[in-house]
Amino acid sequence: MAVMTVTLSMKAEELKSPDGNMVLRFEVRNGSPVYRLDYKGKPVIRDSRLGLELKDVDDLLTGFVLSDVQRSTFDETWEPVWGEWKTIRNHYNEMAVTLSQTSTERDMVIRFRVFDDGLGFRYEFPEQDELVYFVIAEERTQFAMTGDHTAYWIAGDYDTQEYDYTTSRLTEIRGLMKQAVTPNASQTPFSETGVQTALMLKTDDGLYINLHEAALVEYSAMHLELDDRSLVFESHLTPDAQGNKGYIQAPFNSPWRTVIVGDKAATILESKITLNLNEPTRFEDTSWIKPIKYIGVWWEMITGKSSWAYSDLPAVKLGVTDYSKVEPNGKHGANNEHVKMHIDFAAEHGFDAVLVEGWNVGWEDWFGKSKDYVFDFVTPYPDFDVEMLNAYAAEKGVRLMMHHETSSSVRNYERHMDAAYQFMVDHGYNSVKSGYVGDIIPRGEHHYGQWMVNHYIYALEKAAEYKIMVNAHEAVRPTGLSRTYPNLLANESARGTEYEAFGGSKPDHTTILPFTRQIGGPMDYTPGIFEQDIKKLNPDNHSWVNTTIARQLALYVTMYSPLQMAADLPENYLRFMDAFQFIKDVAVDWDDSRVLEAEPGDYVTYARKAKGRDEWFVGCTVDENGHTSEISLDFLDANRKYEAIIYKDAKDAHYKNNAQAYKIEKKKVSSKTKLKIQCAPGGGYAISFRPAE
Ligand code: NOJ
Ligand code: CA
Repeated sequence: MAVMTVTLSMKAEELKSPDGNMVLRFEVRNGSPVYRLDYKGKPVIRDSRLGLELKDVDDLLTGFVLSDVQRSTFDETWEPVWGEWKTIRNHYNEMAVTLSQTSTERDMVIRFRVFDDGLGFRYEFPEQDELVYFVIAEERTQFAMTGDHTAYWIAGDYDTQEYDYTTSRLTEIRGLMKQAVTPNASQTPFSETGVQTALMLKTDDGLYINLHEAALVEYSAMHLELDDRSLVFESHLTPDAQGNKGYIQAPFNSPWRTVIVGDKAATILESKITLNLNEPTRFEDTSWIKPIKYIGVWWEMITGKSSWAYSDLPAVKLGVTDYSKVEPNGKHGANNEHVKMHIDFAAEHGFDAVLVEGWNVGWEDWFGKSKDYVFDFVTPYPDFDVEMLNAYAAEKGVRLMMHHETSSSVRNYERHMDAAYQFMVDHGYNSVKSGYVGDIIPRGEHHYGQWMVNHYIYALEKAAEYKIMVNAHEAVRPTGLSRTYPNLLANESARGTEYEAFGGSKPDHTTILPFTRQIGGPMDYTPGIFEQDIKKLNPDNHSWVNTTIARQLALYVTMYSPLQMAADLPENYLRFMDAFQFIKDVAVDWDDSRVLEAEPGDYVTYARKAKGRDEWFVGCTVDENGHTSEISLDFLDANRKYEAIIYKDAKDAHYKNNAQAYKIEKKKVSSKTKLKIQCAPGGGYAISFRPAE
């Protein structure tokens, strides 16, 4: 018996991708599970250990023998409810290894799936007598790097992802960690070398590698802790209030750990691994789920031009029950006339919905005044007539979008959820933007811990019962769960456009997000800001939006989402109606998506075909250095001519001081046309293509 064990453990089990280029090797070495990954003969992940440390009982790291290996192949094509592609192929080779820990009589399975563009693997804990309930002290999954790669990273943090990205060598992370924190933000990195996923990496010999997770369910979000001498990343799960990392009952499967690999940056952006590793939806009827293009009573509050609150006093705290007796502050955005103006604007320009924040009582009690204030999600301010406004919107073919700021009082939200969603149904709302600003209540829980991960999914399941679509802000970074829960249209879960009104974001931000935050799913980035100088909206706010107008148009294509906002004020769109036309025209759901050129931190150019129509849209976003973009239009139907409308930076445009200088050009083109377009520093371009008559 012992001899057999040794022989088995000496021989690595090999699993290749369908095209043979990606090779996983697995073995049990001295009782410990070890894997490595190679791509086209080059090492991607060096020998790395797998396993978990448990609380109060023996760990699941050592003492294993390999007791079974099962292999299979899978090839299936499926259709997402909405997405970047009409159909998605899920093609991989699989190997499930059973590891037996003889001393404890416990079994653990590690399931590997190797795709042409990467690897997914997870831990499985089958039902068994000796492993029923257990507490994870830490997951110890390693990703051993092959060199001092360039990394595009944000700090590991249990509660916020709203960081600007830092581009550095792995060995420079420690030295840059302090600097990676934005002044005045509530960012607290948990260590000097901890980073978040999706982590984007580039090797010196031109490999692009992305580390993330898929199907984060009933588990804590994974961060990566770097040992910067050995260049080994190890998983670091988000703890709960007790410091525990997860409460598990077998049978149970962990989320998938993913390694996407390619020799072109585009491979990372075009990968379907994250979606493919999620379960198909169990919703039988998805006809109520529809992509949304919306405007909102929102940017004016973000910039400080108007307020969420109706008054300046903490009314509820003062015992006020009748808000019409409260002195209004004269700055309340969500008032009847103003909302009607937005509905009119949305109807006139073809938007589906109008988000209204600050419609419900309590903002003066919560925002900065009483940290523990809880909202009830059903009581409007006196100047917001829920019935009248929803009827007015319905008449014009527009929906209002609900807003639930939960104030992070999560149990309070759960208690009110049925009433809140029923209130929406009763008044004609079919989508909600939810938010989790501030520390989680109950205290000590974290935004990315298992308890909150469960909550976000509970909110989605409940919303589905009411046929409600969800856009959750400050929620955990997505991991492809929109395949299972297609009513999760988008998340924020990264540094969005709002930061451009809070001091600004780095000009290369939108060239990195597609490689990081968006690997897991769509982002409600809220693009479309035409006025960069925020003091024109609020004299006290000296922020500058680090972008040209042309680039803002590009983001509707490069920042994939089935939920897209035109975030600026209607009055700013009225000043640039010719550029605004692109936002009106651009699709929000796609049959096909192609990366035309991409380099993280420098530029990203996408072409996408509108769902069900022969119309294409191209977007290009670039960093502070500008870029000459050369693209071929070979994605167009070769048998047709198209009219292209090109929205590009003017020659002298610059994100810092000449951001509104753009040029619009009309051109007849075909699939043989090549375009060369100059992008300004912090700029970009957008193009729409329609078949020419
Ligand atoms: C933060 C969200 O990202 C923002 O969009 C929202 O307006 C505020 N929270 C208030 O809920
Ligand atoms: Ca750059």
